[in-house]
Amino acid sequence: MAVAQKLQLIQKMQIKGGCRLEGVTSVSGGKNTAVAIIPAVLLCDEPCVIENLPDIDDVRVLAEMMRHLGASVALEGNTMHIDPRGVSGHSVPAKLAQRMRASYYLIGALLGRLGRAEVPYPGGCMLGPRPIDQHIKGMEALGATVVCHSDGVFAEVDELRGNDIFFDLVTVGGTINVMLSAVRAVGNTTIYNAAKEPHIVDLANFLNSMGARVKGAGTDIIRIRGVQKLRGCTYAVIPDQIETGTLMIAAAATHGDVTIRGCIPTHMDALTAKLLELGANITDSDDSIRVRSNGAHRAVNIKTQVYPGFPTDLQQPMSALLTTARGTSIITENIFEQRFRHLMEMERMGASARIVDRVAIIDGVSGLFGSSVYVTDLRAGAALVVAGLMAEGVTEIANTQYIDRGYENLESKLRSLGADIRRVEVEDYSPMIEIIRE
Ligand code: EPU
Repeated sequence: MAVAQKLQLIQKMQIKGGCRLEGVTSVSGGKNTAVAIIPAVLLCDEPCVIENLPDIDDVRVLAEMMRHLGASVALEGNTMHIDPRGVSGHSVPAKLAQRMRASYYLIGALLGRLGRAEVPYPGGCMLGPRPIDQHIKGMEALGATVVCHSDGVFAEVDELRGNDIFFDLVTVGGTINVMLSAVRAVGNTTIYNAAKEPHIVDLANFLNSMGARVKGAGTDIIRIRGVQKLRGCTYAVIPDQIETGTLMIAAAATHGDVTIRGCIPTHMDALTAKLLELGANITDSDDSIRVRSNGAHRAVNIKTQVYPGFPTDLQQPMSALLTTARGTSIITENIFEQRFRHLMEMERMGASARIVDRVAIIDGVSGLFGSSVYVTDLRAGAALVVAGLMAEGVTEIANTQYIDRGYENLESKLRSLGADIRRVEVEDYSPMIEIIRE
């Protein structure tokens, strides 16, 4: 048996670095909000219209999963019409579930609707171990029997009953999944040590628009009074906090002057504070942020935290910016075990970084140069785009499907601000090894 790599046409993102970003752009709807709100429609007995959805692969895959379960779904641009009345299926196919992380929200939503859910283990970004023990603990506290087998999770319950749930750690996914299970449970549920991210608040607002009774979202105690029935509604998801942050970082990284419209500046406070600390100039209004930079950036230290701390999802693009800041930056990744693989790719562009467990020590260099790099996860993709914008020469980014999972029209937004960025099809060796039997 011999092993060979296969030469094939693959899509890459090509960036000619060194262009200063300048102008006005707008932010799309929140990915991590959208992927919680779409499954939540399963809890309702009437059609819903969800607006301001980002036009990204994760949303399209969720639409397919909802159809598979029996919902009627029409996705037109950024609006999804979902009629969940025909839902009778409780089982999600692996080929869909494994394409994204948020497929696990279907466990909570299907338990709430049908009392039964069979969902393969989710896919999504590989950031180290991503257990779901707290989701399961919460659902079991509500009376469900949850069995984890080799292919996925099977959960079943005759009647969900409200209870007190104290999470061992703060989990965004666990908080959302238990909220979904609890809104139609009999009685009251209290979630202690809940996550406080903006999308938790947005989900609570959506559930309440359907007639649920959720209080306290945005604090660490969420109280839910179960209701028997939810009604249809029209709801627009909040702007994407991480896309806003990525654009802010790209503006500073290119010594640019960019105004981002349609965002919620208070959601960006942790990033804004760090960008000010490194030397950028930031002003905001009710729904826009302007980032200006002359490029004289100082090193800063970052510790990722749950909201309102510095978000792990912006750690990666921010560390790209820090590769050329004057001095040594220390980044501590407290949420995920392995979220520094982008830095190894950036070493090919001249970055200097040492990684010790969950700490990255970045020694600022005078500049990056273009190279061929490979995306390992969604925000690593964003980080490599930022690095490509900063670098001298051409950067070719492979494995861009990760970026398409979570950013709507990133290239055209950056292009409209002056970036030289495009998709190309090039002949390359497939990263997949092909085994040839002799
Ligand atoms: N954790 C457990 N047990 C659990 C759940 C989580 O040990 O039952 C641990 C995880 O292993 C991790 C930490 O707790 O170390 C935080 O995990 P969390 O549940 O908060 O994250 P998640 O739900 O898996 C969501 C976002 C991520 C984002 C994190 C943190 C979605 C679909 N994903 O993940 O988004 O990084 O919250 O804010 O909403 C991204 O958008 O690129 C992304 C990865």
